[in-house]
Amino acid sequence: MNNYSFKKYQPLSLRLWHWFNALVILGLLGTAFLRKSFLSWRTNAALIESKMQEAGAAITPDLAKDIAIGIRTPMWDWHYVLGFTLGGLMLVRVLVGIFAVKKCPATHAAQSAWNLRKVPAGQKANALHYTIVKTGYALFYLVTVFMVVSGVVMYFKTELGISKEALNPVKEFHELMMWFFTAFVVGHILGLVIAENRQDKGLVSDMIHGGPKD
Ligand code: HEM
Ligand code: HEM
Repeated sequence: MNNYSFKKYQPLSLRLWHWFNALVILGLLGTAFLRKSFLSWRTNAALIESKMQEAGAAITPDLAKDIAIGIRTPMWDWHYVLGFTLGGLMLVRVLVGIFAVKKCPATHAAQSAWNLRKVPAGQKANALHYTIVKTGYALFYLVTVFMVVSGVVMYFKTELGISKEALNPVKEFHELMMWFFTAFVVGHILGLVIAENRQDKGLVSDMIHGGPKD
């Protein structure tokens, strides 16, 4: 195993956290994609209006929109359930960091980047790749904290007395960051498949049973 292998013992708490976190992130992405595709109120309101017209009945655009949003609501409520769960998982990750992993993802990424200066030429590519992957994890945590804070603020905007307009830029950035998570998940899974086929056999099963302690 070289210095830039991703294989290391994974404590039970991190493994449990990892799989819950993966499910919750996929769920959140799922609700966002559904809202923008099959359950888009614009598409469905237009469909309701045109079907009603074909049937010879009249419907106002406002009512068609109300119905379309009503159809979407039970699905979108899961965004909030999963969103608050993700908030809880971030707190759990801090505890896992303090008691089990004892390594801060941001410091670890920064340290790898700093050490790049003294890496021998033959190891440069591996060291750079390692740093990029670890920076990706640090970014994941940073963007996730932003998603949770912005999500909770949007959720409680009435209680906090913040207007919808004032929150527009926050909402837009929250919405845009959906693409960060999409890219992260695709890159993460492709990267793992490549690593399993090259230097890091058993990386995925280590995330299930922990792997050798040393
Ligand atoms: C789909 C959503 C997923 C998310 C958001 C996610 C997130 C993460 C994060 C943040 C880490 C770094 C943990 C740390 O050291 O602090 C990690 C590591 C890892 N993940 Fe995932 N993961 C996902 C799915 C998966 C899947 C499907 C697999 C297996 C097929 C997997 C296997 C692993 C492995 C083996 C590691 C350790 C590798 C390493 O340290 O580079 N993950 N994941
Ligand atoms: C991976 C994490 C997340 C992703 C990918 C994500 C994605 C999205 C997207 C795409 C939207 C905009 C929907 C639209 O207008 O078309 C949105 C809105 C929203 N999200 Fe998230 N979100 C995530 C995490 C969270 C969290 C942790 C919360 C906290 C509870 C949250 C609460 C909200 C709220 C309140 C809105 C505004 C809904 C509205 O104005 O109708 N989200 N999210």
